[in-house]
Amino acid sequence: MAIILITGAKGQLGNELKVVSKNYYGYDFIFTDIDSLDITSQEQTSEFIKKSKPDWIINCAAYNLVDKAESEPDKALLINGTAVKNITEVIRGSECRFIHLSSDYVYDGKSNVPYNEGDPVNPLSAYGRSKLAGEKYALLHQGSMIIRTSWLYSSFGNNFVKTILRLAAEKESLKVVFDQTGTPTYAADLAEAIMNIISGVIRNQMAMNSGIYNYSNEGVCTWYDFACEITKEAGLTCQVLPVPTKDYKQTAQRPAYSVMDKSKIKENYWLSIPHWRTSLIKCMKLLK
Ligand SMILES: NC(=O)c1ccc[n+]([C@@H]2O[C@H](COP(=O)([O-])OP(=O)(O)OC[C@H]3O[C@@H](n4cnc5c(N)ncnc54)[C@H](OP(=O)(O)O)[C@@H]3O)[C@@H](O)[C@H]2O)c1
Repeated sequence: MAIILITGAKGQLGNELKVVSKNYYGYDFIFTDIDSLDITSQEQTSEFIKKSKPDWIINCAAYNLVDKAESEPDKALLINGTAVKNITEVIRGSECRFIHLSSDYVYDGKSNVPYNEGDPVNPLSAYGRSKLAGEKYALLHQGSMIIRTSWLYSSFGNNFVKTILRLAAEKESLKVVFDQTGTPTYAADLAEAIMNIISGVIRNQMAMNSGIYNYSNEGVCTWYDFACEITKEAGLTCQVLPVPTKDYKQTAQRPAYSVMDKSKIKENYWLSIPHWRTSLIKCMKLLK
């Protein structure tokens, strides 16, 4: 029976993996979060992995406070970077497969065509730099797959969808940036994709090719478009007003364009990815 260890399982993606895991029999899932496995502790990480002997590790643990990371870059780097090394140092040279999550914020957003995995990276923020450090540490292990994702949301945890729903219910109008373009990702779709990959590899239907992969939902939008769709679906009358990034106070700089080309993951693992609007409607039904 394959043993799958999940870190950071109380977060958005971790919770969605818990939901999806119920459809996968014959796997032994070990869900952990900082209270049971703090990946910044080298000793604890090493002991836990050596004892549980996972065949797969999915690292959902992360520091995701993009603005706050500017004032605590060391903490971001510790959780998103050094802690990844704690994992790969234990599994290096072993058969254990490692799925690590990264971010579209490793790109600088100067492109105007979707980024592919080979494009140069140049993070604009402390958060982006910490995620890039994590990628490098993940790649120290041969059996690592890095999935860069973007604008993650879920019915679990805190995210843009929930923030807009809350603010739109309280206010008559809301200002949202219209000049940052990307693609939202429903964490439930990403969890499903990860389990499709793992089960396909375990059943020898496909080979796991290590390296970097982009994954988001299909389609393209701005945060403004996303907010409009959320309020429309919720039937809220709050007016969403477009503002330029320069007039919107955010500590960290974000890429103006971070749409990702997903051909590699789709072709390698035969994935079909839903459009962001379709998935948003699904998530919002759960939130009602
Ligand atoms: N959220 C996004 O918009 C976004 C965008 C692009 C990429 N990603 C990446 O996608 C992945 C999943 O993101 P997510 O939104 O599911 O994250 P999340 O909801 O923030 O969950 C992360 C989890 O990791 C836990 N954690 C923090 N420090 C830890 C430690 N030292 N040891 C073990 N667990 C620890 C957190 O606990 P606490 O809550 O107690 O800190 C939380 O439960 C992450 O790699 C993230 O960087 C996310």
